[in-house]
Formats: sequence, C-alpha cells, structure tokens
Amino acid sequence: MNFKTSLTFAKEMDNKDPLKDFRNQFIFPSFHKNKMRYFTGNSLGLQPVTTREVIGEELDDWGRFGVDGHFMSRRPWFSYHEELTSMAADIVGAKEIETVITHSLTTNIHLLMVSFYQPKGKRNKILCEKKAFPSDQYALQSQLKFHGYTKDQLIEVGPREGEHLIRHEDIISAIEENKEELALVFIGGVNYYTGQYFNLKEITEAGHKAGAFVGFDLAHAAGNVNLQLHKWKVDFAMWCSYKYLNSSPGGVSGLFVHEKHAENNSLPRFAGWWGHDKEQRFMMEDEFYPMKGAEGWQLSNAPVLGMAAHLASLKIFKEAGMFRIGEKRDLITAYLEFLLEEVNKRHQGFLEIITPKNPSERGSQLSILFKKDGKEMFNKLTESGVVADWREPNVIRIAPAPLYVSYEDCWFFADILNQHA
Ligand SMILES: Cc1ncc(COP(=O)(O)O)c(C=O)c1O
Repeated sequence: MNFKTSLTFAKEMDNKDPLKDFRNQFIFPSFHKNKMRYFTGNSLGLQPVTTREVIGEELDDWGRFGVDGHFMSRRPWFSYHEELTSMAADIVGAKEIETVITHSLTTNIHLLMVSFYQPKGKRNKILCEKKAFPSDQYALQSQLKFHGYTKDQLIEVGPREGEHLIRHEDIISAIEENKEELALVFIGGVNYYTGQYFNLKEITEAGHKAGAFVGFDLAHAAGNVNLQLHKWKVDFAMWCSYKYLNSSPGGVSGLFVHEKHAENNSLPRFAGWWGHDKEQRFMMEDEFYPMKGAEGWQLSNAPVLGMAAHLASLKIFKEAGMFRIGEKRDLITAYLEFLLEEVNKRHQGFLEIITPKNPSERGSQLSILFKKDGKEMFNKLTESGVVADWREPNVIRIAPAPLYVSYEDCWFFADILNQHA
C-alpha cells in the first residue's frame, strides 16, 4: 500500500474502511476540552454502547427474580459462563471444551501453574521472557517458592546487548539447551512493553520436544492478534478481557486448557464447587469430580455483572470477526508506522519504533522510544486530547485498536509529534 502523509488521504482511508461503523458502537472519553483520540486499547479498551444495556438486563432480572434468577432470568446465572464460551473460543482459536471465562487474569495464571508446573527431580526449571509483566514475574517467583525453589530455577531469555527485542532463535535455543531440566515454558504472547508478538506455534513445538508443558499469558494478544491455540497444541493459556476486549476495568478473564488434558484428572489442581461436575453440584458431596475440559478449573459461580460486560463486547467481536479485525490491524498499524517514520525523517531521528516491523511479529501496538524529552512530548499529546501510555524511562505506547481508532486519529497523533519535535 502506498501511504500518503496528507489529512485527505487519512480521510479517504476512513471512508474505505469496512469496519468504520464499529466506531459508533463505543463511548469515547469526553472530559477533555479537545476531541479525544484514544490509543490505549492495550491498557483499557473503550466501553461499548451496549454494555450498560446488557448489565441493566441482569440488574432487572436480579430485581425481578431474586435468587430464582439463577434459573429463571433471561440468561440463567447458573450457566451464565456458557453464554460466552463459543465467542471467546473463536477469538483465541480454541474449541469450546478448551475455553472458559472465569476469575481474573493473575488468579488464572496461578491456577494453571498449579496444574502445569510439576517439577520432578532435576526437571524443575521454568523458561520465561526477561522483563515479563510484573504480575507474571511475581506469580512465577511465588510458584517456585511454593515448591521450595528459588529464582535460580527461572531461565529468563532477554534481548541481546544493545537490542530491544528478543530473538526467536534465542528462545528456541534456550529451550533446547535446557531440555533436560525444563518443566515449563511460560511466556507473554505479546510483550506488554515492546508489543513483540512471539512465534507461539514454534515455541510450543520446541517446548514439547524438550519434554516441558507450554503456556502463554495472552493479556496483550487476545482480541488483538490471530491465535490458534488448539491447532498449535498449546497446553494452557489465560487472558484478560479489559484491554483489546473492552469488557470493563478489571473485567473477567479467559482460561484455556488444551483438549488433550480435558479428562486428565490426575493433573494437580486447586478445586472449587463450580469446577465440579455440574449434574451433581447441588448434591453437595464431599468428593470433587471435575467437569471435563476448561470448565473443571472454575472455582466460583460467575460474577454476572462482569460477565455481562464481556458478553456485550464479545457480540461486537463476533459481528466484526477476528479476520477483518486482523486485516485492519495490520493496515492501520503500518499506516501509523509510516506517518511516524515520515515525521522522524523530518526531525533528525528523534524517535525509534522498538516494536517489530514485521506484521506477523506484532499486533496493533507501537512502542516509541524517544531519544530525549519523551515525557514532554507525552504531555503535549495529553494536552491536545490524545490518550496514550507512558512507560519509564522514555517510551510511549500506542495501540490503534481496529474497532474504534480511525486513520484520522493516527494522522492527528503524528501531526502533534511533528509540531512539537
Ligand atoms: C501481561 C499481563 N499479565 C498480567 C496482568 C495482570 O492482570 P490482572 O490485574 O487482571 O490480574 C496484566 C495487566 O495489565 C498484564 O498486562
């Protein structure tokens, strides 16, 4: 595609955008004196217009039915999570039996590590990416401690000296070099800081060849990049719904366990009554019989209001389809990158985009490293109504989320940089 720098070109792109009407399905923040341009769908996605209505329906049914709403409400709360399963499974390329919406993200990291981190003898190490999101690091460290180990059991693969990204071949060779000792490979599917999307298929293959389980934290991947968890034979994964999936602050999480483990009751797990065989749940028996598949990892009955917010958003994703979302993601991200590079040429290379250039190694996030005065530039953007994300020491992260960011928004962003560089 031959991009151009003019505002007219941006407007033409918006006119031709097959997803342009989806923008109207979201509420843009309006507290600023200027029109707001929202680039933080990688942190907290915008509120869909329908969220209030769907949550309102649950409040109405709670008022009308009280406890009987568990079976009498329009979407019975007893089986509420089932309303979401197939739409959520489609987003991550999973089967329904492999998917459940439940708990919060870090809770699910712990629950699945209980099952899939099983150190035995010298096979006790975990391989992860250096500078993983802090919650992942704390979860890994505390799981190691729980099993009586220390950080020495953690193999962290980082970028080479002077580089920002982690080379795929370095991850694969670290797996091969440690194949006798590796119990688990656990990586963030898309790195929160650089936006690097790892090759999950090949990492899974390498991990399995080494005799380890393989799992991914997909917080920055779900609803952003195209995933095929079932096909790639990933053992387990989890994600949050409040970033690219627009399902309310701190919203419910998704959990994936591959079908091959669906009936493996010998996997250790922390159990709760909602994971128990649903036909017998109310017999209140002492012994735990897990449901088949991902549902067997549920602890508690569903937080219906949070689930309702997720339901509202998943319907939008179903209508748009991950294929079309992916097409726009690649195009608008490449366009934004083009504009930034043009501004950069005009201003003696004042910035560096540290996110991979290759579309198959990124989603819709670009991380911009400023050579100097990044915070001042961030403040200028904020003053003009742009919502972006600042990360110390000198990085601005932006995500042109395909469902509601326009080409004109991207043009505006680059124009502010151009004015203040
Ligand atoms: C990659 C990653 N993992 C874990 C978390 C923690 O999520 P939660 O607070 O929902 O447990 C986040 C939050 O942003 C994240 O980005």
